[in-house]
Amino acid sequence: QADTPHYRPAIHYTARDTWLNDPNGLVYYGGTYHLYYQNNPHANVWGNMSWGHATSTDLVHWTEQPVAIACDATEDVYSGSIVADQANTSGFGTAANPPLVAIYTSAFKDGTPHAGTQAQSLAYSNDAGMTWTKFSGNPVLTRASANFRDPKVFSYPGPDGPEWVMAAVEAGEQKVVFYRSANLREWALASEFGPANAVGGEWECPDLFPLPVDGDPVHAKWVLVVNLNPGAVAGGSGGQYFVGDFDGATFTPDPSSLLESPVDGTDPANAARLRECRWLDWGRDYYAAVSFSNAPDNRRIMIGWLNNWDYANSLPTFPWRSGMSLAREVTLEMVDGRPCLVQKPVLPGRRNIQSISGMDLCDRVLRLPDVVPGTAQLIEAEILPGAAQKVGFRLWADSDGGAAAVLAYDPTAGLLSLDRRNAGDTGFHPSFPSAESSPLALDGGVLTLRIVVDHCSVEVFAQGGKVVLTDLVFPYAGQSGTSVFADGGPATIRKLDVSALS
Ligand code: FRU
Repeated sequence: QADTPHYRPAIHYTARDTWLNDPNGLVYYGGTYHLYYQNNPHANVWGNMSWGHATSTDLVHWTEQPVAIACDATEDVYSGSIVADQANTSGFGTAANPPLVAIYTSAFKDGTPHAGTQAQSLAYSNDAGMTWTKFSGNPVLTRASANFRDPKVFSYPGPDGPEWVMAAVEAGEQKVVFYRSANLREWALASEFGPANAVGGEWECPDLFPLPVDGDPVHAKWVLVVNLNPGAVAGGSGGQYFVGDFDGATFTPDPSSLLESPVDGTDPANAARLRECRWLDWGRDYYAAVSFSNAPDNRRIMIGWLNNWDYANSLPTFPWRSGMSLAREVTLEMVDGRPCLVQKPVLPGRRNIQSISGMDLCDRVLRLPDVVPGTAQLIEAEILPGAAQKVGFRLWADSDGGAAAVLAYDPTAGLLSLDRRNAGDTGFHPSFPSAESSPLALDGGVLTLRIVVDHCSVEVFAQGGKVVLTDLVFPYAGQSGTSVFADGGPATIRKLDVSALS
Protein backbone atom coordinates (compact mmCIF):
# COMPACT_ATOMS: atom_id res chain seq x y z
CA GLN A 1 0.00 0.00 0.00
CA ALA A 2 1.34 3.44 -0.91
CA ASP A 3 1.81 6.17 1.70
CA THR A 4 -0.68 9.04 1.54
CA PRO A 5 1.26 12.00 2.97
CA HIS A 6 -1.06 14.42 1.12
CA TYR A 7 -3.90 13.34 3.47
CA ARG A 8 -1.86 13.82 6.64
CA PRO A 9 -3.63 16.74 8.40
CA ALA A 10 -1.77 19.99 9.03
CA ILE A 11 -3.54 20.81 12.31
CA HIS A 12 -5.36 17.65 13.44
CA TYR A 13 -3.88 14.85 15.53
CA THR A 14 -3.14 11.52 13.87
CA ALA A 15 -0.96 8.69 15.17
CA ARG A 16 2.23 8.22 13.19
CA ASP A 17 1.54 4.82 11.66
CA THR A 18 -1.31 3.15 13.55
CA TRP A 19 -5.07 3.11 13.98
CA LEU A 20 -6.96 5.27 16.48
CA ASN A 21 -10.58 5.76 17.52
CA ASP A 22 -12.23 7.39 20.58
CA PRO A 23 -10.42 10.05 22.60
CA ASN A 24 -9.92 8.64 26.14
CA GLY A 25 -8.82 10.03 29.48
CA LEU A 26 -8.67 13.64 28.35
CA VAL A 27 -7.06 15.45 31.25
CA TYR A 28 -5.11 18.64 31.91
CA TYR A 29 -2.43 18.13 34.52
CA GLY A 30 0.64 20.10 35.52
CA GLY A 31 0.50 22.37 32.47
CA THR A 32 0.04 19.54 29.96
CA TYR A 33 -3.02 18.43 28.02
CA HIS A 34 -3.09 14.64 27.73
CA LEU A 35 -4.93 13.01 24.85
CA TYR A 36 -5.14 9.25 25.31
CA TYR A 37 -7.06 7.34 22.70
CA GLN A 38 -8.28 3.96 21.53
CA ASN A 39 -5.29 2.67 19.61
CA ASN A 40 -4.16 -0.47 17.84
CA PRO A 41 -0.40 -0.32 18.45
CA HIS A 42 0.24 -2.99 15.81
CA ALA A 43 -1.89 -2.09 12.79
CA ASN A 44 -4.01 0.56 11.13
CA VAL A 45 -7.36 -1.13 11.58
CA TRP A 46 -9.38 -1.60 14.80
CA GLY A 47 -8.01 -4.32 17.12
CA ASN A 48 -5.62 -4.94 20.06
CA MET A 49 -7.39 -2.08 21.81
CA SER A 50 -5.01 -0.14 24.03
CA TRP A 51 -4.68 3.47 25.11
CA GLY A 52 -2.33 5.43 22.85
CA HIS A 53 -1.10 8.78 24.14
CA ALA A 54 -0.21 12.26 22.96
CA THR A 55 0.60 15.45 24.86
CA SER A 56 0.27 19.16 24.16
CA THR A 57 0.63 22.46 25.97
CA ASP A 58 -1.72 24.38 23.67
CA LEU A 59 -4.25 21.82 22.31
CA VAL A 60 -2.86 22.42 18.82
CA HIS A 61 0.65 20.95 18.69
CA TRP A 62 0.63 17.30 19.78
CA THR A 63 3.53 14.96 20.51
CA GLU A 64 2.95 11.22 20.24
CA GLN A 65 4.05 9.31 23.36
CA PRO A 66 4.53 5.58 23.99
CA VAL A 67 1.40 3.43 24.44
CA ALA A 68 0.02 4.20 27.91
CA ILE A 69 -2.23 1.24 28.83
CA ALA A 70 -1.87 -1.88 26.71
CA CYS A 71 -4.19 -4.80 26.06
CA ASP A 72 -2.96 -8.16 27.34
CA ALA A 73 -3.90 -11.84 27.21
CA THR A 74 -7.02 -11.26 29.33
CA GLU A 75 -8.48 -7.97 28.14
CA ASP A 76 -8.79 -5.27 25.54
CA VAL A 77 -8.61 -1.81 27.05
CA TYR A 78 -11.70 0.12 25.92
CA SER A 79 -12.68 3.73 26.41
CA GLY A 80 -12.72 5.60 29.70
CA SER A 81 -11.55 8.68 31.54
CA ILE A 82 -8.85 9.98 33.90
CA VAL A 83 -9.12 11.95 37.12
CA ALA A 84 -6.48 13.78 39.11
CA ASP A 85 -6.97 12.18 42.54
CA GLN A 86 -5.61 15.17 44.50
CA ALA A 87 -6.63 13.82 47.92
CA ASN A 88 -5.23 10.35 47.11
CA THR A 89 -8.65 8.81 47.87
CA SER A 90 -7.64 5.75 45.86
CA GLY A 91 -4.43 5.21 47.79
CA PHE A 92 -2.48 4.72 44.56
CA GLY A 93 -0.21 7.67 45.35
CA THR A 94 0.77 9.68 48.39
CA ALA A 95 -0.47 12.96 49.83
CA ALA A 96 2.67 14.61 48.49
CA ASN A 97 2.48 12.94 45.09
CA PRO A 98 -1.20 12.31 44.30
CA PRO A 99 -1.88 9.89 41.47
CA LEU A 100 -3.68 10.20 38.17
CA VAL A 101 -6.24 7.41 38.00
CA ALA A 102 -7.62 5.99 34.75
CA ILE A 103 -11.03 4.33 34.83
CA TYR A 104 -11.29 2.18 31.69
CA THR A 105 -13.43 -0.64 30.36
CA SER A 106 -12.01 -4.15 30.43
CA ALA A 107 -13.39 -6.05 27.44
CA PHE A 108 -12.55 -9.55 28.62
CA LYS A 109 -11.24 -12.09 26.16
CA ASP A 110 -12.52 -15.62 25.58
CA GLY A 111 -11.20 -18.21 27.99
CA THR A 112 -10.74 -15.75 30.87
CA PRO A 113 -12.81 -15.70 34.11
CA HIS A 114 -14.97 -12.73 33.02
CA ALA A 115 -15.16 -13.75 29.33
CA GLY A 116 -18.08 -12.24 27.46
CA THR A 117 -18.53 -9.30 29.82
CA GLN A 118 -17.35 -5.73 30.00
CA ALA A 119 -16.50 -4.17 33.37
CA GLN A 120 -14.74 -1.13 34.78
CA SER A 121 -11.09 -1.28 35.81
CA LEU A 122 -8.42 1.08 37.14
CA ALA A 123 -4.87 1.98 36.25
CA TYR A 124 -2.76 4.64 37.92
CA SER A 125 0.18 6.87 37.15
CA ASN A 126 2.63 8.32 39.65
CA ASP A 127 4.61 10.23 37.03
CA ALA A 128 2.00 12.70 35.75
CA GLY A 129 0.52 10.44 33.12
CA MET A 130 3.59 9.12 31.33
CA THR A 131 3.54 5.51 32.59
CA TRP A 132 0.65 3.47 33.95
CA THR A 133 0.14 0.42 36.18
CA LYS A 134 -3.04 -1.66 36.08
CA PHE A 135 -4.61 -2.18 39.54
CA SER A 136 -4.18 -5.76 40.78
CA GLY A 137 -7.79 -5.76 42.07
CA ASN A 138 -9.39 -5.25 38.64
CA PRO A 139 -12.17 -5.19 37.67
CA VAL A 140 -13.59 -2.84 40.31
CA LEU A 141 -17.15 -2.61 38.95
CA THR A 142 -19.04 -5.41 37.21
CA ARG A 143 -22.65 -5.68 36.05
CA ALA A 144 -23.03 -9.09 34.39
CA SER A 145 -23.30 -7.27 31.08
CA ALA A 146 -21.65 -7.64 27.68
CA ASN A 147 -22.09 -3.92 26.96
CA PHE A 148 -21.24 -2.03 30.15
CA ARG A 149 -18.59 0.49 29.19
CA ASP A 150 -17.06 3.92 28.63
CA PRO A 151 -16.89 5.31 32.21
CA LYS A 152 -16.56 9.07 32.57
CA VAL A 153 -15.67 10.01 36.16
CA PHE A 154 -15.73 13.42 37.79
CA SER A 155 -15.67 14.79 41.30
CA TYR A 156 -18.86 15.95 43.06
CA PRO A 157 -19.29 17.39 46.57
CA GLY A 158 -20.36 14.76 49.14
CA PRO A 159 -21.36 15.13 52.83
CA ASP A 160 -17.77 14.52 53.98
CA GLY A 161 -15.86 16.11 51.13
CA PRO A 162 -15.56 15.42 47.42
CA GLU A 163 -16.79 12.10 46.05
CA TRP A 164 -16.65 10.54 42.63
CA VAL A 165 -19.47 10.16 40.13
CA MET A 166 -19.27 7.80 37.16
CA ALA A 167 -21.43 8.03 34.05
CA ALA A 168 -21.14 4.84 31.97
CA VAL A 169 -23.43 3.09 29.48
CA GLU A 170 -25.46 -0.05 29.15
CA ALA A 171 -24.86 0.39 25.45
CA GLY A 172 -27.44 -2.03 24.07
CA GLU A 173 -30.19 -0.82 26.40
CA GLN A 174 -29.70 2.87 25.49
CA LYS A 175 -29.05 3.77 29.12
CA VAL A 176 -26.57 5.95 30.93
CA VAL A 177 -25.88 4.41 34.36
CA PHE A 178 -24.60 6.56 37.23
CA TYR A 179 -22.48 5.25 40.11
CA ARG A 180 -20.88 6.89 43.14
CA SER A 181 -17.69 6.17 45.03
CA ALA A 182 -15.57 7.66 47.78
CA ASN A 183 -12.30 6.04 46.69
CA LEU A 184 -12.61 5.02 43.02
CA ARG A 185 -12.35 1.34 44.07
CA GLU A 186 -15.86 0.68 45.46
CA TRP A 187 -18.88 1.84 43.53
CA ALA A 188 -22.63 1.98 44.27
CA LEU A 189 -25.37 2.40 41.67
CA ALA A 190 -27.01 5.83 41.94
CA SER A 191 -29.47 6.02 39.02
CA GLU A 192 -30.11 5.31 35.36
CA PHE A 193 -31.16 7.57 32.50
CA GLY A 194 -32.70 6.49 29.19
CA PRO A 195 -33.77 5.35 26.71
CA ALA A 196 -34.61 8.84 25.41
CA ASN A 197 -34.40 10.82 22.17
CA ALA A 198 -32.16 9.10 19.56
CA VAL A 199 -32.04 5.35 20.28
CA GLY A 200 -31.39 3.76 16.87
CA GLY A 201 -28.04 2.31 17.93
CA GLU A 202 -25.87 1.60 20.94
CA TRP A 203 -25.33 4.41 23.41
CA GLU A 204 -21.58 4.94 23.91
CA CYS A 205 -19.09 7.32 25.50
CA PRO A 206 -21.27 9.47 27.78
CA ASP A 207 -20.15 12.68 29.45
CA LEU A 208 -21.80 14.91 32.04
CA PHE A 209 -20.68 18.41 33.06
CA PRO A 210 -22.10 21.70 34.32
CA LEU A 211 -21.89 24.95 32.37
CA PRO A 212 -23.05 28.48 33.20
CA VAL A 213 -25.93 29.64 31.01
CA ASP A 214 -24.98 32.81 29.10
CA GLY A 215 -21.89 33.06 31.30
CA ASP A 216 -23.86 33.34 34.57
CA PRO A 217 -22.38 30.82 37.06
CA VAL A 218 -25.40 31.17 39.38
CA HIS A 219 -27.57 29.86 36.60
CA ALA A 220 -25.75 26.65 35.64
CA LYS A 221 -27.16 23.68 33.76
CA TRP A 222 -25.81 20.17 33.27
CA VAL A 223 -25.07 18.82 29.82
CA LEU A 224 -25.35 15.05 29.30
CA VAL A 225 -23.55 13.97 26.14
CA VAL A 226 -24.56 10.60 24.68
CA ASN A 227 -22.80 9.26 21.62
CA LEU A 228 -24.78 6.83 19.52
CA ASN A 229 -23.96 4.35 16.78
CA PRO A 230 -25.75 3.94 14.43
CA GLY A 231 -28.86 6.12 14.25
CA ALA A 232 -27.31 9.59 14.36
CA VAL A 233 -28.72 12.49 12.38
CA ALA A 234 -26.35 12.30 9.39
CA GLY A 235 -26.31 8.49 9.34
CA GLY A 236 -24.15 6.09 11.33
CA SER A 237 -22.32 7.45 14.39
CA GLY A 238 -22.87 10.83 16.03
CA GLY A 239 -23.32 12.65 19.33
CA GLN A 240 -26.51 13.93 20.92
CA TYR A 241 -26.88 15.91 24.13
CA PHE A 242 -29.47 16.66 26.80
CA VAL A 243 -29.60 19.76 29.01
CA GLY A 244 -30.94 19.45 32.55
CA ASP A 245 -30.09 19.25 36.23
CA PHE A 246 -27.96 16.84 38.26
CA ASP A 247 -28.10 16.44 42.05
CA GLY A 248 -25.11 14.12 42.43
CA ALA A 249 -27.21 11.02 41.84
CA THR A 250 -29.88 11.66 39.22
CA PHE A 251 -29.91 13.53 35.92
CA THR A 252 -33.23 15.24 35.18
CA PRO A 253 -33.53 16.55 31.63
CA ASP A 254 -35.28 19.84 30.92
CA PRO A 255 -38.61 19.23 29.16
CA SER A 256 -37.30 21.41 26.31
CA SER A 257 -34.52 18.86 25.80
CA LEU A 258 -36.72 15.80 25.52
CA LEU A 259 -38.82 14.41 22.67
CA GLU A 260 -42.20 12.94 23.62
CA SER A 261 -40.89 9.47 22.84
CA PRO A 262 -37.56 7.98 21.72
CA VAL A 263 -36.76 7.91 18.00
CA ASP A 264 -35.06 5.17 15.98
CA GLY A 265 -33.00 7.10 13.46
CA THR A 266 -32.07 4.05 11.43
CA ASP A 267 -35.62 4.06 10.04
CA PRO A 268 -35.77 6.73 7.30
CA ALA A 269 -39.43 7.32 8.16
CA ASN A 270 -38.20 8.97 11.38
CA ALA A 271 -35.86 11.48 9.72
CA ALA A 272 -37.92 14.56 10.64
CA ARG A 273 -38.23 13.63 14.33
CA LEU A 274 -34.55 12.71 14.50
CA ARG A 275 -33.72 16.30 13.60
CA GLU A 276 -35.54 17.48 16.72
CA CYS A 277 -32.93 15.82 18.95
CA ARG A 278 -30.02 18.00 20.01
CA TRP A 279 -26.87 17.19 18.02
CA LEU A 280 -23.28 18.08 18.78
CA ASP A 281 -22.55 18.00 15.07
CA TRP A 282 -24.72 17.61 11.96
CA GLY A 283 -21.96 16.12 9.80
CA ARG A 284 -20.85 12.51 9.57
CA ASP A 285 -17.47 12.59 11.21
CA TYR A 286 -17.58 13.72 14.82
CA TYR A 287 -17.96 10.78 17.17
CA ALA A 288 -17.20 9.62 20.71
CA ALA A 289 -16.72 13.25 21.75
CA VAL A 290 -15.92 13.79 25.42
CA SER A 291 -14.46 16.62 27.46
CA PHE A 292 -11.24 17.27 29.36
CA SER A 293 -11.11 16.77 33.11
CA ASN A 294 -9.48 19.49 35.12
CA ALA A 295 -9.14 22.04 32.28
CA PRO A 296 -7.85 25.42 33.51
CA ASP A 297 -10.08 28.48 34.07
CA ASN A 298 -13.22 26.33 34.21
CA ARG A 299 -13.07 25.90 30.47
CA ARG A 300 -14.92 22.92 29.02
CA ILE A 301 -13.07 21.55 26.01
CA MET A 302 -14.14 18.59 23.93
CA ILE A 303 -12.43 16.45 21.31
CA GLY A 304 -14.18 13.94 19.05
CA TRP A 305 -13.02 11.22 16.72
CA LEU A 306 -13.02 12.41 13.09
CA ASN A 307 -14.71 9.32 11.74
CA ASN A 308 -17.85 7.22 11.51
CA TRP A 309 -18.14 3.50 12.22
CA ASP A 310 -20.05 3.13 8.92
CA TYR A 311 -16.74 3.17 7.02
CA ALA A 312 -14.05 3.78 9.67
CA ASN A 313 -11.80 0.85 8.78
CA SER A 314 -11.82 1.69 5.05
CA LEU A 315 -10.49 5.27 5.00
CA PRO A 316 -7.93 5.60 2.17
CA THR A 317 -4.95 6.70 4.27
CA PHE A 318 -1.65 4.99 4.97
CA PRO A 319 0.29 4.22 7.17
CA TRP A 320 -2.07 5.73 9.78
CA ARG A 321 -5.86 5.62 9.83
CA SER A 322 -8.16 8.19 11.49
CA GLY A 323 -7.58 11.42 13.33
CA MET A 324 -9.06 13.61 16.04
CA SER A 325 -11.20 16.70 15.60
CA LEU A 326 -9.90 20.09 16.59
CA ALA A 327 -10.35 20.78 20.29
CA ARG A 328 -13.63 22.67 20.77
CA GLU A 329 -14.42 24.94 23.67
CA VAL A 330 -18.10 24.58 24.57
CA THR A 331 -20.47 26.99 26.35
CA LEU A 332 -24.24 27.21 26.88
CA GLU A 333 -26.24 30.06 25.39
CA MET A 334 -29.96 30.70 25.44
CA VAL A 335 -31.29 30.30 21.89
CA ASP A 336 -35.04 30.52 21.23
CA GLY A 337 -35.80 30.15 24.92
CA ARG A 338 -33.65 27.10 25.70
CA PRO A 339 -29.97 26.51 26.50
CA CYS A 340 -27.99 25.44 23.46
CA LEU A 341 -24.42 24.12 23.26
CA VAL A 342 -22.12 26.51 21.40
CA GLN A 343 -18.74 25.29 20.12
CA LYS A 344 -15.61 27.21 19.19
CA PRO A 345 -12.52 25.56 17.74
CA VAL A 346 -9.12 26.05 19.35
CA LEU A 347 -6.98 27.23 16.44
CA PRO A 348 -3.33 28.05 15.81
CA GLY A 349 -2.47 31.62 14.77
CA ARG A 350 -3.61 32.83 11.33
CA ARG A 351 -1.07 33.62 8.61
CA ASN A 352 -1.31 35.15 5.10
CA ILE A 353 -4.66 36.76 5.84
CA GLN A 354 -6.41 37.97 2.69
CA SER A 355 -9.63 39.94 3.03
CA ILE A 356 -12.56 40.80 0.82
CA SER A 357 -15.39 42.93 2.13
CA GLY A 358 -18.48 44.76 0.98
CA MET A 359 -18.98 42.87 -2.25
CA ASP A 360 -22.16 41.83 -4.05
CA LEU A 361 -22.27 38.47 -5.79
CA CYS A 362 -24.99 37.39 -8.20
CA ASP A 363 -25.02 34.10 -10.15
CA ARG A 364 -21.28 34.05 -9.89
CA VAL A 365 -18.45 31.97 -8.56
CA LEU A 366 -15.54 33.96 -7.17
CA ARG A 367 -12.26 32.17 -6.79
CA LEU A 368 -10.51 32.68 -3.46
CA PRO A 369 -6.79 32.41 -2.71
CA ASP A 370 -5.58 28.81 -2.99
CA VAL A 371 -4.72 26.77 0.05
CA VAL A 372 -1.09 27.44 1.03
CA PRO A 373 0.66 24.06 0.58
CA GLY A 374 1.26 22.26 3.85
CA THR A 375 -1.24 24.34 5.79
CA ALA A 376 -4.94 24.19 6.62
CA GLN A 377 -7.22 26.94 5.40
CA LEU A 378 -9.48 29.06 7.58
CA ILE A 379 -12.38 30.87 5.90
CA GLU A 380 -14.24 33.39 8.06
CA ALA A 381 -17.29 34.91 6.41
CA GLU A 382 -20.24 37.16 7.13
CA ILE A 383 -22.76 36.89 4.33
CA LEU A 384 -26.15 38.47 3.74
CA PRO A 385 -27.91 35.84 1.61
CA GLY A 386 -30.41 38.52 0.50
CA ALA A 387 -32.44 37.26 -2.46
CA ALA A 388 -30.03 34.48 -3.46
CA GLN A 389 -31.49 30.99 -3.64
CA LYS A 390 -28.21 29.51 -2.52
CA VAL A 391 -25.00 30.98 -1.25
CA GLY A 392 -21.90 29.20 -0.10
CA PHE A 393 -18.49 27.77 -0.82
CA ARG A 394 -16.97 25.25 -3.16
CA LEU A 395 -14.07 23.43 -1.49
CA TRP A 396 -11.40 21.19 -3.02
CA ALA A 397 -12.48 22.23 -6.51
CA ASP A 398 -10.92 21.01 -9.77
CA SER A 399 -9.14 23.58 -11.93
CA ASP A 400 -12.17 23.51 -14.25
CA GLY A 401 -14.49 23.99 -11.26
CA GLY A 402 -16.34 20.69 -11.80
CA ALA A 403 -15.75 18.45 -8.82
CA ALA A 404 -15.93 19.98 -5.34
CA ALA A 405 -17.39 19.63 -1.89
CA VAL A 406 -20.22 22.15 -1.66
CA LEU A 407 -21.20 24.01 1.50
CA ALA A 408 -24.42 25.90 0.78
CA TYR A 409 -27.05 27.89 2.65
CA ASP A 410 -30.60 27.93 1.33
CA PRO A 411 -32.40 30.92 2.92
CA THR A 412 -35.87 29.74 1.88
CA ALA A 413 -35.48 26.31 3.43
CA GLY A 414 -33.35 27.67 6.30
CA LEU A 415 -30.85 24.86 5.77
CA LEU A 416 -27.06 24.72 5.78
CA SER A 417 -25.84 21.73 3.77
CA LEU A 418 -22.55 20.03 3.04
CA ASP A 419 -22.35 17.74 0.01
CA ARG A 420 -19.23 15.62 -0.49
CA ARG A 421 -20.67 13.24 -3.11
CA ASN A 422 -18.71 14.92 -5.89
CA ALA A 423 -15.49 15.54 -3.96
CA GLY A 424 -12.39 13.43 -4.43
CA ASP A 425 -12.24 9.73 -3.58
CA THR A 426 -15.64 8.49 -2.36
CA GLY A 427 -15.40 4.96 -3.73
CA PHE A 428 -13.63 3.19 -0.87
CA HIS A 429 -16.93 2.44 0.91
CA PRO A 430 -20.54 2.46 -0.36
CA SER A 431 -21.82 4.46 2.59
CA PHE A 432 -19.20 7.23 2.34
CA PRO A 433 -20.73 9.48 -0.38
CA SER A 434 -23.21 11.72 1.42
CA ALA A 435 -24.85 15.10 1.81
CA GLU A 436 -25.70 16.45 5.27
CA SER A 437 -27.75 19.41 6.41
CA SER A 438 -28.75 21.31 9.52
CA PRO A 439 -31.56 23.77 10.18
CA LEU A 440 -30.04 27.22 10.62
CA ALA A 441 -31.71 30.55 11.38
CA LEU A 442 -29.88 33.73 10.34
CA ASP A 443 -29.02 36.30 13.00
CA GLY A 444 -30.35 39.65 11.76
CA GLY A 445 -30.20 38.38 8.18
CA VAL A 446 -26.53 37.41 8.50
CA LEU A 447 -24.92 34.02 7.92
CA THR A 448 -21.68 33.73 9.90
CA LEU A 449 -19.30 30.93 8.99
CA ARG A 450 -15.91 29.75 10.21
CA ILE A 451 -14.70 26.93 8.00
CA VAL A 452 -11.55 24.95 8.74
CA VAL A 453 -10.36 23.03 5.69
CA ASP A 454 -7.53 20.61 6.42
CA HIS A 455 -6.04 18.02 4.07
CA CYS A 456 -8.86 15.51 4.48
CA SER A 457 -11.50 17.19 6.65
CA VAL A 458 -13.76 20.20 6.90
CA GLU A 459 -15.27 21.55 10.12
CA VAL A 460 -17.92 24.25 9.71
CA PHE A 461 -18.83 26.43 12.72
CA ALA A 462 -21.91 28.47 11.81
CA GLN A 463 -23.57 31.34 13.71
CA GLY A 464 -20.72 31.56 16.20
CA GLY A 465 -20.73 27.78 16.78
CA LYS A 466 -24.45 27.15 17.39
CA VAL A 467 -24.44 24.81 14.39
CA VAL A 468 -21.48 22.59 13.53
CA LEU A 469 -20.94 20.29 10.54
CA THR A 470 -17.88 18.06 10.26
CA ASP A 471 -17.04 15.81 7.32
CA LEU A 472 -14.05 13.93 5.97
CA VAL A 473 -13.17 14.52 2.29
CA PHE A 474 -10.34 12.82 0.36
CA PRO A 475 -9.49 15.10 -2.57
CA TYR A 476 -7.53 13.89 -5.58
CA ALA A 477 -4.29 15.64 -6.57
CA GLY A 478 -4.99 19.08 -8.04
CA GLN A 479 -8.30 19.51 -6.20
CA SER A 480 -7.42 22.43 -3.98
CA GLY A 481 -9.42 25.39 -5.27
CA THR A 482 -11.72 27.35 -2.97
CA SER A 483 -14.45 29.68 -4.15
CA VAL A 484 -17.54 31.52 -2.92
CA PHE A 485 -20.76 31.55 -4.91
CA ALA A 486 -24.30 32.93 -5.00
CA ASP A 487 -27.02 31.40 -7.19
CA GLY A 488 -30.46 32.61 -8.23
CA GLY A 489 -30.19 36.17 -6.93
CA PRO A 490 -27.82 38.65 -5.31
CA ALA A 491 -26.06 38.10 -1.98
CA THR A 492 -23.68 40.41 -0.14
CA ILE A 493 -20.34 39.30 1.21
CA ARG A 494 -20.04 41.63 4.15
CA LYS A 495 -16.70 40.25 5.27
CA LEU A 496 -14.50 37.40 4.10
CA ASP A 497 -11.06 36.51 5.46
CA VAL A 498 -9.05 33.62 4.12
CA SER A 499 -5.94 32.61 6.03
CA ALA A 500 -3.47 29.79 6.52
CA LEU A 501 -3.19 27.69 9.70
CA SER A 502 -0.19 25.55 10.44
C1 FRU B 1 -16.98 3.80 20.59
C2 FRU B 1 -16.54 2.45 21.13
C3 FRU B 1 -16.67 2.41 22.64
C4 FRU B 1 -15.67 1.37 23.03
C5 FRU B 1 -14.56 1.60 22.04
C6 FRU B 1 -13.84 0.36 21.61
O1 FRU B 1 -16.44 4.12 19.35
O2 FRU B 1 -17.28 1.43 20.50
O3 FRU B 1 -17.99 2.15 23.09
O4 FRU B 1 -15.24 1.54 24.35
O5 FRU B 1 -15.16 2.21 20.89
O6 FRU B 1 -12.76 0.66 20.78
